[in-house]
Amino acid sequence: MADAPLHVVTGAFGYTGRYLAEKLLADGIRVRTLTNSPQRKNPFGDQVEARPFDFDRPERLVESLRGAAVLYNTYWVRFDKVGFSHDAAVDRTRTLFRAAAEAKVGRVVHVSITSPSESSPLPYFRGKALLERALVESGLPHSIVRPAVLFGGEDILVNNIAWVLRRFPVFGVFGDGRYRLQPIHVEDFAALLQNEGRATGNRVIDAVGPEAFTYRELVAAIGRAIGKKRPIVSVPPRLGYVVGLVVGKLVGDVTITWEEVQGLMAGLLYTGAPPAGSTRLTDWARASAKTLGTRYHSELARRRDRTRAYAEM
Ligand SMILES: NC(=O)c1ccc[n+]([C@@H]2O[C@H](COP(=O)([O-])OP(=O)(O)OC[C@H]3O[C@@H](n4cnc5c(N)ncnc54)[C@H](OP(=O)(O)O)[C@@H]3O)[C@@H](O)[C@H]2O)c1
Repeated sequence: MADAPLHVVTGAFGYTGRYLAEKLLADGIRVRTLTNSPQRKNPFGDQVEARPFDFDRPERLVESLRGAAVLYNTYWVRFDKVGFSHDAAVDRTRTLFRAAAEAKVGRVVHVSITSPSESSPLPYFRGKALLERALVESGLPHSIVRPAVLFGGEDILVNNIAWVLRRFPVFGVFGDGRYRLQPIHVEDFAALLQNEGRATGNRVIDAVGPEAFTYRELVAAIGRAIGKKRPIVSVPPRLGYVVGLVVGKLVGDVTITWEEVQGLMAGLLYTGAPPAGSTRLTDWARASAKTLGTRYHSELARRRDRTRAYAEM
């Protein structure tokens, strides 16, 4: 194992990073993770070495990256909140790329988002575009992988739509609900990242699944799959957002941000690109009907408790 190539994965005790680390280990790769949660339950035992991100001590970050054939970067924050922000995530990721260049990492596989744009008014999409440029300008060989929405395992959006469908007699969509999205399964996504780690040259890929839905169709498909066909009603977007705020207060989370509502309604999670994964959400939802949405998946709980595994939250 000591002779095996070293790959560094950010957030291997988190969501996508964990699925990726599993695949790399199965491939005989030596895996190290950079994480904000070195105390989190390590599902890999001593197979995965955990080191802190050390954004404030770049020389340590360089040491953690030295000798790595590939760095897979999933690091990002979903929204601004006390203690974390998009601006800080952009600065930190730039530090990570500089450290990777100094450590002479062989390749960077960077997770972005569909439809990033430096002129976007939405900090998520703007910040991701700035980072794509920073990576290109770093000169590091790279793949930029742009997922729309992930589903499967510990995902948040699809699971929590099912959670709402299970508990409420009606489901409200923002506006007409006709904006589209192309979810990709987390296993397909992890396999795509793994493949990009083996690729050469610089590549940009939209990571979208084989089915595209309008938001309304997505909610209906999940409802059918779990046996909770609810009336789906259009609500003014601001009102829907306020309802989300109230539900968030009840469950101690941020269910959806106004920026996420805007990104969703602008169709930024749909690109029309050919599928990069084969798992159909409709098939997966039917197969997962017993568990999908039975528990709320909380973003903030994952940030507050850095010892428990995501699956237990
Ligand atoms: N999930 C989706 O549906 C989705 C959709 C489109 C794009 N993406 C992109 O896919 C990538 C991975 O997403 P994921 O859902 O798999 O993320 P994740 O595993 O929850 O987090 C990825 C990494 O970022 C760190 N992180 C996340 N939020 C943080 C915060 N508020 N403060 C400090 N560190 C934070 C995590 O810290 P720990 O080390 O503590 O775990 C982990 O190292 C991200 O770049 C995201 O933008 C995800």
